[in-house]
Amino acid sequence: MTVPNHFELIGTDGAARTGRLTTPHGVVRTPAFMPVGTAGAMKGLHWREVRDAGADIVLGNTYHLMLRPGAERIAALGGLQRFTTWNGPMLTDSGGFQVMSLAQLRKVNEQAVTFRSHIDGAAIELSPERAIEVQRLLGSDIAMQLDECVRLPADRADIERAMQLSLRWAERCKRAFETAPDGYMLFGIVQGGDVPELRHASAQGLIDIGFHGYAIGGLAVGEPQDVMLAMIEEAAPILPAERPRYLMGVGTPEDMLEAVARSIDMFDCVMPTRNGRHGLAFTQYGPINLRNAKHADDPRPLDEESDWPSARTYSRAYLHHLVRSSETLGAMLLSEINIAYYQRLMRDIRAAIAVGQFEEFRLRTRAAWERGDI
Ligand code: GUN
Repeated sequence: MTVPNHFELIGTDGAARTGRLTTPHGVVRTPAFMPVGTAGAMKGLHWREVRDAGADIVLGNTYHLMLRPGAERIAALGGLQRFTTWNGPMLTDSGGFQVMSLAQLRKVNEQAVTFRSHIDGAAIELSPERAIEVQRLLGSDIAMQLDECVRLPADRADIERAMQLSLRWAERCKRAFETAPDGYMLFGIVQGGDVPELRHASAQGLIDIGFHGYAIGGLAVGEPQDVMLAMIEEAAPILPAERPRYLMGVGTPEDMLEAVARSIDMFDCVMPTRNGRHGLAFTQYGPINLRNAKHADDPRPLDEESDWPSARTYSRAYLHHLVRSSETLGAMLLSEINIAYYQRLMRDIRAAIAVGQFEEFRLRTRAAWERGDI
């Protein structure tokens, strides 16, 4: 049976694409950046600010939410959209990646990944079937298959073993998702590390199973940017053009601009909020580190031309002071400013593709980042 397609391509410019993905909780304009609300909260931001910044969709994590407050509890409270008040499209990651980075005493076998919770040490088993069940309980619009992602550099044999296991888990996730109501989506995840043949085999294997959309995973895990871009170039031409393409866990504004140029439609990353909490602002002039003493006496705002009020009003001197004093407000303002910048970049990218000027936009934007802070 063919899998319904909820993605509509509106325009292309070179390999770059702009489109609309229709979910049960609303439409997502692509290219899209999904702010990461790991445990049902966007760190440092009100949900209202996430929406005002222009985000159509946010990401939640199976791993965190199943441990606390629990998927069954969230389901009983009406699902994650109602629980959080976000009430818009949500994608949830499946947990495999977070188990790898956070859990203790982790063991992967054919059946499942078992681990101890980083919160209370409880022994937990996460199988492909349970990963789908949890995401269904959360009410996620887009669920991700359970996969195993290996950090790079890694041996080819290990990359291949994890890729093949992820393909078998993809098939089990697809079966477990069969009872989901119409409109809800499941994405497969291309693995294969930095080995082109393994990326091809993974993409082809997922297409043979058939998903609503396709993610490229196992990147931004220790490899240089040129390797990441080369792996997108290996996988992308194999993927069906009419389906959405999601590059997981990426990245910097530059990574995203270059990935859009290679046909990617969706992104997520903790960078705007995590780096914001550590005093870094993303702007049209590139990143600005507000910890730096040179900002202490600077009355100028971060970006006079920004359409985001906080980027236009607070002085660099004040932001520097907040960051140096570890004031909560500093983390909040920079997280909000960074999410707004990421959304503005996506909006400008979509507009440039729609009028056939993406390449000019890419060069102009890179030049401004390279000129740097004024
Ligand atoms: N987030 C970033 N990379 C990955 C990946 O390879 N797999 C999953 N499930 N999540 C990710």
